[in-house]
Amino acid sequence: MGLVPTARIMHRSPSYLFPCVTALAFLSLTILVLYKVDDFATQTKTVVGHNLEPTPWHLFPPKSFSEETRQAQVYKILHCSYLTCTSYTIPNYITGRRRSVPVVSNQTCPEFFRWIHRDLEPWTRTGISKTHLKKAQEFASFRVVIVGGRLFVDLYYACVQSRAMFTIWGLLQLLRRYPGMVPDVDMMFDCMDKPSINRTEHGSMPLPLFRYCTTQAHFDIPFPDWSFWGWPETNLNPWDEEFRDIKHGSQKMNWTKKWPRAFWKGNPDVGSTIRTELLNCNHSRKWGAHILRQDWSKEAQEGYEKSKLSNQCDYRYKIYAEGYAWSVSLKYILSCGSLALIISPQYEDFFSRGLVPKKNYWPISSTDLCPSLKFAVDWGNAHPSEAREIGKGGQDLMESLSVDRVYDYMFHLIKEYSKLQKFKPIRPPSALEVCSESLLCLADAKQRYLLRKSTAFPSSSPPCSLQAADINLMKNLIRKKRQTIDDIEDMKRKAYTQTKN
Ligand SMILES: *[C@@H]1O[C@H](CO)[C@@H](O)[C@H](O)[C@H]1NC(C)=O
Ligand SMILES: *[C@@H]1O[C@H](CO)[C@@H](O)[C@H](O)[C@H]1NC(C)=O
Ligand SMILES: *[C@@H]1O[C@H](CO)[C@@H](O)[C@H](O)[C@H]1NC(C)=O
Ligand SMILES: *[C@@H]1O[C@H](CO)[C@@H](O)[C@H](O)[C@H]1NC(C)=O
Repeated sequence: MGLVPTARIMHRSPSYLFPCVTALAFLSLTILVLYKVDDFATQTKTVVGHNLEPTPWHLFPPKSFSEETRQAQVYKILHCSYLTCTSYTIPNYITGRRRSVPVVSNQTCPEFFRWIHRDLEPWTRTGISKTHLKKAQEFASFRVVIVGGRLFVDLYYACVQSRAMFTIWGLLQLLRRYPGMVPDVDMMFDCMDKPSINRTEHGSMPLPLFRYCTTQAHFDIPFPDWSFWGWPETNLNPWDEEFRDIKHGSQKMNWTKKWPRAFWKGNPDVGSTIRTELLNCNHSRKWGAHILRQDWSKEAQEGYEKSKLSNQCDYRYKIYAEGYAWSVSLKYILSCGSLALIISPQYEDFFSRGLVPKKNYWPISSTDLCPSLKFAVDWGNAHPSEAREIGKGGQDLMESLSVDRVYDYMFHLIKEYSKLQKFKPIRPPSALEVCSESLLCLADAKQRYLLRKSTAFPSSSPPCSLQAADINLMKNLIRKKRQTIDDIEDMKRKAYTQTKN
């Protein structure tokens, strides 16, 4: 009944009102859509860090974004996140050249790959359940799920600098390198420096969390860090190129011509006691060491000419000192072919477990720092061919760690991990698909330049063959390493008693 009068009123309204009402409705709709789009954009998290808080366990200053206007930002977020991973990219991943690649390689992986078994050992009996993942999420900054060769990322917190972007890029390149071979997985990652899954506290239920380093007191699983694909904030190229340049630079001067001193250049203000102590050893005659401060903001202004790693191989000895946790610099230091003096590290990254004292580095005690450096320099100057040989051992180890091998490590780690999963990974509802195109879309010019340079191509050979797990062999390796370090400490003590007597 009530309908009739209303209809009559509408009919009686003047005809010029209709376009006005339509226009008004259209306008409101547009505003609503714009508002919704904006709203949608502010809810979309990106690997750059849009709409994300820094990790609460390691705060850092809020990120600034390269887009000039708010509108440009909204457009970029929506365009890159939802419109770039179109289906045409998918068949490549899945079909690829699967059939042409033999599945088993006759090339055995480098020795340090054995640590994959040890890193995953805490879950060999229990397997990895959904509960494990749920609990590990509390410590994670993002989650990566690979299903059918497609990669989905659920972002929880922002990562400092471009770590998240370059880490996820590395995973995408792995999928390109071994199309159809990377199994379905569900992994939690943290991108900040310090391991967090303490073996004592989490002894009853170890949580699987990937990060860039671990210690013997943690369950965290080490994974190759972002710098293998480049580090825009410090002007570092993808690893293969950086290694080639450093090796080339190291050949400019013969061993005898190199300074018979130990060199370190870095940032001492990173909350590392060892780096602070290192400043005390800065005396050429007394301790045989040259310690220099790296000022990144100044280097950035001067075009990084002085921080070029390929120009830092003119010393016979190069010191490695951990920073706030492990340091990305280890691989660059070893690449020089100088004798690497490694101050007893607390943190381990995925490849540093392959270091063998007196074969590819010289161990330095952290409790007796300056005298230990001095002893190493004196020993090396008294035994030049041996010192050069060990230095070359370090460089050879880095040469064997090509980016291709890094992909092999990632492949085997993911494969062994996936075997432990007790569930079938599925795309989490809140996760977004990420593909090479979407990362390139979100990247700024410098990031894009490095990402493009580090693009992987399908491999014509399968990954190296992973050694079987061998607990006794690992125990022996660790025991032998300990023994060599102790022997060097003894040598040092004897040398000092002799000089005192
Ligand atoms: C591995 O296989 C390749 C190609 O099948 C062959 O050329 C090579 O000699 C083999 N190497 C070893 C160590 O068996
Ligand atoms: C691990 O936790 C125990 C117990 O809370 C603590 O004593 C130890 O210092 C922690 N270890 C590390 C490496 O943080
Ligand atoms: C380095 O030494 C080798 C011989 O040991 C010599 O043949 C070569 O010319 C030297 N290179 C430079 C750059 O001095
Ligand atoms: C170490 O000593 C050298 C020469 O005496 C000096 O130029 C340099 O600034 C010193 N390094 C630091 C970190 O103070």
